[in-house]
Amino acid sequence: MDYKSILAELVASAAEGLEASVIAAMIEVPPNPDMGDLSLPCFKLSRTMRKAPQQIAEELAGKLPPHPAFSRATAAAGYLNVFYDKRAFAESVLSEVLQAGDRYGSGTIGAGKTIVIDFSSPNIAKPFHVGHLRSTVIGNALYRIHKFLGFDCVGINHLGDWGTQFGKLITAYKLWGDEREVREGGIEELMRLYVLFHDEAEKKPELEDEARSWFVKLERGDEEALALWRWFKEISYEEFNRIYGLLGVTFDSDAGESFYNDKMGPVVEELKEKGLLEEDQGAYLVRLDEFNMAPALILKKDGATLYHTRDIAAALYRNRTYAFDKAIYVTDYAQNLHFQQWFKVIDLMGYEWADRLVHVAFGRVNLEGVKFSTRKGNVVLLEELLRQAIEKTRDIIENKNPSLDNKEEVARQVGVGAIIFNDLSNNRIKDVSFSWKDVLNFEGESGPYVQYTYARARSVLRKAGLADEQAAAAGFDAALLENAEAQQVLKELQSFPDKVRQAMDKLEPSIIGRHLIDIAQSFNRFYHECPILVDDAGLKTARLALVASVCSVLRTGLDLIGLQAPERI
Ligand code: ARG
Repeated sequence: MDYKSILAELVASAAEGLEASVIAAMIEVPPNPDMGDLSLPCFKLSRTMRKAPQQIAEELAGKLPPHPAFSRATAAAGYLNVFYDKRAFAESVLSEVLQAGDRYGSGTIGAGKTIVIDFSSPNIAKPFHVGHLRSTVIGNALYRIHKFLGFDCVGINHLGDWGTQFGKLITAYKLWGDEREVREGGIEELMRLYVLFHDEAEKKPELEDEARSWFVKLERGDEEALALWRWFKEISYEEFNRIYGLLGVTFDSDAGESFYNDKMGPVVEELKEKGLLEEDQGAYLVRLDEFNMAPALILKKDGATLYHTRDIAAALYRNRTYAFDKAIYVTDYAQNLHFQQWFKVIDLMGYEWADRLVHVAFGRVNLEGVKFSTRKGNVVLLEELLRQAIEKTRDIIENKNPSLDNKEEVARQVGVGAIIFNDLSNNRIKDVSFSWKDVLNFEGESGPYVQYTYARARSVLRKAGLADEQAAAAGFDAALLENAEAQQVLKELQSFPDKVRQAMDKLEPSIIGRHLIDIAQSFNRFYHECPILVDDAGLKTARLALVASVCSVLRTGLDLIGLQAPERI
């Protein structure tokens, strides 16, 4: 039920010359439920109605036609405050939640629309760093949220599998590498070679030339260069896949930067034809001075392409292939300029879809507080971060619930969930701090707190013999849920669909993360104040309907941000 529209209609019918749609947009939710469940600030009406706000509020309160959704209306300090009929409210929220089940909050706003989500996108033979982890987590959540709202989603892992770094790596491997050591050492050994290259190149700058010429060979399809590149890629990919496996993340396409190799020539041609390309000491670039930006580099003087070139080619390809309504790119804010530059180039090329490109930037994660047992590369560190989370969670569970059956699996769901949730509990643009104490705090604003609340609620349902949440929808007396604790839970459940929409509009999964905390906190207050499995059958049935609804919404919300919902912890 849409309470705001109902109230707006009532107000419009109570006062001449007011339009319901205009009123609806003015209605607010007061900060404190004592002031009402909805309120209309009458200041904005004061001019057109030529009356003092308080007078308007009083007249409206007096003339508002009765409606089953509302119990009363008052006027205070220029506001018209309206109170829900608590029984009707409980009835409508619970039946809506339980009837819709795991579709509660879903929508069709995205029907027929396609969104391309470029996320994770680590670089082959370079560290999968914590920024890539964050991109993976945020991108995955955005994917799920859009799908839930009816969009066709295309998740692309734009692997950094092309670029001058491969020239460096090949050079280093040819000079100091050994096949067996690479086989055994994997990505770590590749990274050792890469770092060695940089150390040596400081002393011998001619190594840089050699690396450049290997990359040019690679771009021209030289067999030896290609074979090494493929092998390095395979090694890296195997390790990335272990991390994706732990996180439960998949992609629709792994077309990385190399995929656009044969699609860049035409782009360069097109830029030339459109008069956008300028030569500068043998290199080619697009000037962006007019827009107060450094130029976008398109070709180096040896003819090699760049990160910009590949992003432009990729965008043209994606537009042709998916005809997207929106294409988003999830990276750390350090790349703000990069995206502004090439979005501008697309615009200058005359493509009206330039405004469908969106950079979803996020802040840094500070891992200083984490102690690692090894001093290996960051890829290993990240996997170790996840493994440490799982291990620490296992210890906590061991203490809390020693007889739990599938401890290993639950520790994985909760440990990994804790890491994911930490990235999604604040606005993405904020830098994130990391402390095990907060991340794994079962009582704090954490993933484990939400999951634990869910498991606790499910256990109540099990004890009541209610395996099926939907079964709780029948035969409850909503008048028994009029107390403040129950009403607060109901309000949180009611606003869930709105939060999902906001998360989509703002490309901000943390809106759902924070809302899950609000639901869990209000439920825990209810749980402490209102015993559920009581003798009074009517009271028990009503409270169980609320518990079942909380379970349903928490599970949906967790799923939307990429966390699992274990039955028992
Ligand atoms: N591989 C890049 C990096 O690690 C991220 C790529 C983001 N996606 C894109 N289309 N540029 O910094």
